[in-house]
Amino acid sequence: MHRETRIFRAPGRVNLIGEHTDYNDGFVMPAAIDLATWVTVAPLENRKLQIHSENFDEEIEVDLDDNAIAARGHWSDYPIGVAVMLERAGYRLRGARLQIRSNIPIGSGLSSSAAIEVATSCALTANSGVEIDARELARICQRAENEFVGARVGIMDQFVSLVGQTQTALLLDCRTLEFKLLPIPDNVRLIICNTMVKHELASSAYNERRKQCEAGVKQLASSFPGVTALRDVTLGQLEQHGDDLSDVVYRRCRHVITENARVLSAADDLEQGDLDSFGKLMAESHRSLRDDYEVSCKELDLMVELAREIEGVYGARMTGGGFGGCTVNLVAVADVEQFKQRVVSDYERFTTIKPEIYVSNAAKGPEEVTS
Ligand code: GLA
Repeated sequence: MHRETRIFRAPGRVNLIGEHTDYNDGFVMPAAIDLATWVTVAPLENRKLQIHSENFDEEIEVDLDDNAIAARGHWSDYPIGVAVMLERAGYRLRGARLQIRSNIPIGSGLSSSAAIEVATSCALTANSGVEIDARELARICQRAENEFVGARVGIMDQFVSLVGQTQTALLLDCRTLEFKLLPIPDNVRLIICNTMVKHELASSAYNERRKQCEAGVKQLASSFPGVTALRDVTLGQLEQHGDDLSDVVYRRCRHVITENARVLSAADDLEQGDLDSFGKLMAESHRSLRDDYEVSCKELDLMVELAREIEGVYGARMTGGGFGGCTVNLVAVADVEQFKQRVVSDYERFTTIKPEIYVSNAAKGPEEVTS
């Protein structure tokens, strides 16, 4: 291996509670997971980026001095977007050869994109002798997705991939980026169940939900000056002015407002070790996402229903953007094996689809590794 070759790893994430609240300046509680992306980096003597993906078995080359670099709906948009945004933020990068590999299933709601962005940003900055703090790096990675790739995502995924810690959940205030790491008790595991479906409308529906939230804010701000995001609205205020909003916008707002409150209660529960109460909040979150925010789907609902009937399950809900992908389950350690068996056989019986199950500990943020 080349003397200056280095390897950086960044994790995917699962969100325990606080869904579709990040872009409303609200609260979220994700954890980094064991699944990850690795980027191997070696310097080049020019300003080229040669990027190879092991997963896609493909290589592309771009010139950092090319002002016309644009996204083209390709896996390479993510690493290139990060390089472009680092440069735009004023960090001059050295050319590099990057090799990317990942074991995070793509498009399953476990933030394979954030992990690529974060691992690439760590590799490119280290290769260029640049140091950037986690908050700024998270914003740069988010910008890569917002401004380069063209997805209007919030900051949750990039942030937790950067600051996650072993055996802890991250309580993040997405307005101030203040955060707290809350220990997850040793006697439970996070089990992620992949429905193995991904419905087409996921990204268009995501942007549509954002617009509906913005419409709600605009309307409510005319009655309550000072409201700049749904984060600022109480349930009482929403109810008082419910008639001014369309039914759909009203329900979208109700989800976000109640979900923010659930995240804060869940944080108290975790601090007090009250997993029963935490699990009830997960169930309420799922119902709200299903009925008010309408981002679930029949496969996610089924996976959650099946899990609830199993011994040792404190809570189950969809996780991530929705319309397919994964559920997250909080399960007693002693019941992990029977949980896996039951979920796999029941889900397959109802759908004929074999689900994938990942048992994860909350994992650590990015690091340099030796292999
Ligand atoms: C996706 C986005 C996040 C967040 C979730 C929903 O994962 O990347 O920013 O909005 O959806 O909670």
